[in-house]
Amino acid sequence: MWTVEKRYRRIEEVEIEEISNLMAKVKNCPWRQTFHIQPEIGLLNDPNGFSFYNGEYHLFYQWFPLGPVHGLKYWYHKKSKDLVNWENVGIAIRPNDYFDSHGAYSGSAIEHNGNLYFFYTGNTRDENWKRHPYQCIAVMDTNGHITKMEKPVISEIPKGYTDHFRDPKVWKENDTFYAVFGAQRTEETGCILLYSSLDLIEWTFEGEVGTNLEKFGFMWECPDYFELQNQGVLVFSPQGIEPEGDKFQNIYQSGYVLGERLDLEKKVLEHGQFIELDRGFDFYAPQTMLDPKGRRILVGWMGLPEIDYPTDKNEWAHCLTIPRELSIHEGKLLQKPIKELEKLRKEKVEIDTEIDNETRRFKGFYGESYELSAEFTNFTAEEFGIELRVGENEKTTIKYDSRTKQVIFDRSLSGEPVGEAFGTERKCTIGSSTLTFRIFVDTSSIELFINDGEEVFTGRIFPSKESQGIQFYAKGGAVNLETSLWQLD
Ligand code: FRU
Repeated sequence: MWTVEKRYRRIEEVEIEEISNLMAKVKNCPWRQTFHIQPEIGLLNDPNGFSFYNGEYHLFYQWFPLGPVHGLKYWYHKKSKDLVNWENVGIAIRPNDYFDSHGAYSGSAIEHNGNLYFFYTGNTRDENWKRHPYQCIAVMDTNGHITKMEKPVISEIPKGYTDHFRDPKVWKENDTFYAVFGAQRTEETGCILLYSSLDLIEWTFEGEVGTNLEKFGFMWECPDYFELQNQGVLVFSPQGIEPEGDKFQNIYQSGYVLGERLDLEKKVLEHGQFIELDRGFDFYAPQTMLDPKGRRILVGWMGLPEIDYPTDKNEWAHCLTIPRELSIHEGKLLQKPIKELEKLRKEKVEIDTEIDNETRRFKGFYGESYELSAEFTNFTAEEFGIELRVGENEKTTIKYDSRTKQVIFDRSLSGEPVGEAFGTERKCTIGSSTLTFRIFVDTSSIELFINDGEEVFTGRIFPSKESQGIQFYAKGGAVNLETSLWQLD
């Protein structure tokens, strides 16, 4: 039983033996990933502090070490020279002060005066379990040494908003720092609050960011504002949105609005409709950074709150997505796997053929962690697709129904079930006459990029080790297929 007491135990107070026991259970898990960021033990959630500083990429994640549940959150630090090979650095922020006693919650990073500043939410609870959020700063120097500021930089919740006020994302414009926060109005609707500062220490409440999503869920988490190709992009994770056709199928959503650049004077964002970033099963709370090559790169949490996962019994849960490079095309964000991921590729196999009312397997097409690209053209078939992680009684299907023009990701037969209350299929409409799939498969996940990142589907799957088959099929007609596969390191 995960009592409150157990959820709020500190790793510092636990005997080393307990940690080794947890590690042994994790080690025995058949679903450990090979090229994704995952916790050594316990639960990972949001990516935090994603940045490039002192010649390296830094990425932190929300971490509860002592079990696969949401408990006392720490920031765990990973770093990398290439966004592909990541090194464990260790715990970065510990929730051990009066202002973050119940969790060092999500936040972001920015370089200032030669140091890397973290702006995060300190979550606290009083004797009656009443929440109070503080907004806090920690500073990392060039030696990687991190020090928290003695007191929070924002202690008050502005009038008109509840204690759901968190997840600062900071950026700099001219000489001013700005930060957006996820918040809830007293009437229990979600929104974004804007603050400004000249030194990251003294913050001024600028007001709410005006959008045309007045009543859109009860809370907006993890906002991120940035500009790309001269447009303003606001990413956030709203909670409480009802499903609508094929959209908004997950427990909570994550997406963006795109439009004019944010008017910092009027605090207004003129924008278009809310678009989901990912049409799959497991995606939430993403964060972006601008890298030295000028790329806007996004990483998301490959998981969702309030859902049990099969790895729980092995004492760990969740991973982060692969990094995706963003661009804007025809009023929409495109998301492409970053180029550096090609480094993971080993030998390549390729096939160019026609599939006509049949199911085919090809030599060299199998595996547990690989990258597969497939281009489908000239389709007369009513339905065609790829079956992955195929075993005796298991398969994960990615298919196209040309009658309805829908891409369908079906995990009903993938293996151990997960989140079934929210359905076992995800769909979206794609109208194009050729279709390209770029798929990253790891031991327990699939990330599907369609037509150069026009749509993305991310999902965890929990097949048995033996299910490694790959097959292609077409029904009610034919399709041309050009496909390549690389085993990944
Ligand atoms: C989103 C979130 C954030 C919060 C963090 C706590 O998943 O709820 O709003 O800061 O997780 O771990």
